[in-house]
Amino acid sequence: MAEVRFSDGASYDLMMGPWSRSVGELFLDWLDPAADLDWIDVGCGSGAFTSLVVETCAPASVLGVDPSHAQLDFARGRGLPPLARFEPGDATSLPVADRTFDIAVAALVVHFMPDPAAGVREMARATKPGGLVAAYSWDLLGGGFPYDDLYSRMASSGYPPPAPPSPAAADPRELRQTWELAGLADIRQRALTVTRQFVDFDDYWRTAVTSPRIAAALQRVPEALMAILRAEVEAAVPRRPDGAVVPKATANAIVGRA
Ligand SMILES: C[S@@+](CC[C@H](N)C(=O)[O-])C[C@H]1O[C@@H](n2cnc3c(N)ncnc32)[C@H](O)[C@@H]1O
Repeated sequence: MAEVRFSDGASYDLMMGPWSRSVGELFLDWLDPAADLDWIDVGCGSGAFTSLVVETCAPASVLGVDPSHAQLDFARGRGLPPLARFEPGDATSLPVADRTFDIAVAALVVHFMPDPAAGVREMARATKPGGLVAAYSWDLLGGGFPYDDLYSRMASSGYPPPAPPSPAAADPRELRQTWELAGLADIRQRALTVTRQFVDFDDYWRTAVTSPRIAAALQRVPEALMAILRAEVEAAVPRRPDGAVVPKATANAIVGRA
């Protein structure tokens, strides 16, 4: 399986930032966390979710952890207040002591963990007894990825973008099993569906191909097939009468108590 790298915070933020923000808002509404909590944001990436937590949850502190130094640089450049810190680290060996945080969240990350069970066990280890371990991930197998119209046609043309290591981990039943195996209690789940508006199809396409992994996969598509692929995606994306392209995406969310 090809490795999926997140090496450019700016292009990731353009392609995924608004999706990440709107699904993050829905998730936080549902979670309804108390103020003054110590948070760990596992796989914080460019800091899109971290900044939502800072803006809307009145946290005591937030530690964002991610293996990508480029993403962390972008997150640090957001100018968040000092209560938000960013450190390099991997979900499967978090650089923190046991029982440190009131809440551990992995926003759009569980399917990127090579071993989701180990990652969620680590999140539980880092959380104080009674604290929350929560996540949401795009429903990849259920067609919930924001650019699924493009992804599915690239796959059927024989040029799929590299898949994340654990796409099945985002399935609601898999999530439940992972949370149960990590010893988490009072588990709650829900699906979160969001929409993003692109001015027109060109805007959608340009935005999608800022993703280095979509761009790399498309570079291998022969020119004649590329025109067909683009036309198929254009015919498939949902539109409004004014030409705006308005695709939907769905993430599966879960929370349990340590
Ligand atoms: C889709 S992005 C999500 C970023 C951010 N949480 C958000 O909501 O926008 C996935 C992130 O997971 C990170 N990631 C990949 N493998 C990881 C691992 N083993 N442990 C922690 N983070 C990982 C990537 O570097 C990337 O920043």
